[in-house]
Amino acid sequence: MIRPILRYGAEALHCPAVGVGALNDTVQTLIDDMIDTMYAAAGVGLAAPQVGVGLRLFVADPSSGRDGSQLRVVINPELVEADGAQREEEGCLSLPGFTGHVPRSARVVATGLDREGSSVRIEGEGLLARVLQHEMDHLDGGLFVDRLSGIRRDLIIRRVRKLQRTGKW
Ligand code: NI
Repeated sequence: MIRPILRYGAEALHCPAVGVGALNDTVQTLIDDMIDTMYAAAGVGLAAPQVGVGLRLFVADPSSGRDGSQLRVVINPELVEADGAQREEEGCLSLPGFTGHVPRSARVVATGLDREGSSVRIEGEGLLARVLQHEMDHLDGGLFVDRLSGIRRDLIIRRVRKLQRTGKW
């Protein structure tokens, strides 16, 4: 089932998520819904706070559904390695219509659990590395705009506030 995606300004997006406990039916349904929601929005990643659930879990697929083998579900993720640097354009389903060049590590390793509760270790470079870092930020209550330089960040936030005032957000 597709769930509504919260937009910048919604409280759940701006506070840290808590660890997932039991991988029960509620969590499994959430994961199914997050995958449906990510693909319906043509996204490459979606974190639980974006659908209003403050749990540390995200789904990611750099191929955006073109290659099913690239789908990852990561529960209680941690970034255990990060090196190098890249700065590419990013967007976010919670900030539709806005992008920015975000400084990120070039390569990261994330660990966590898959939906069966088995340990996973994901090594990513390029786009996958950016997605992993972007989704980790969501779990800590951050969005990509928070990592932009002041001028670019202020510009985006001013435009969002204007959309909010006019009921278009
Ligand atoms: Ni995002």
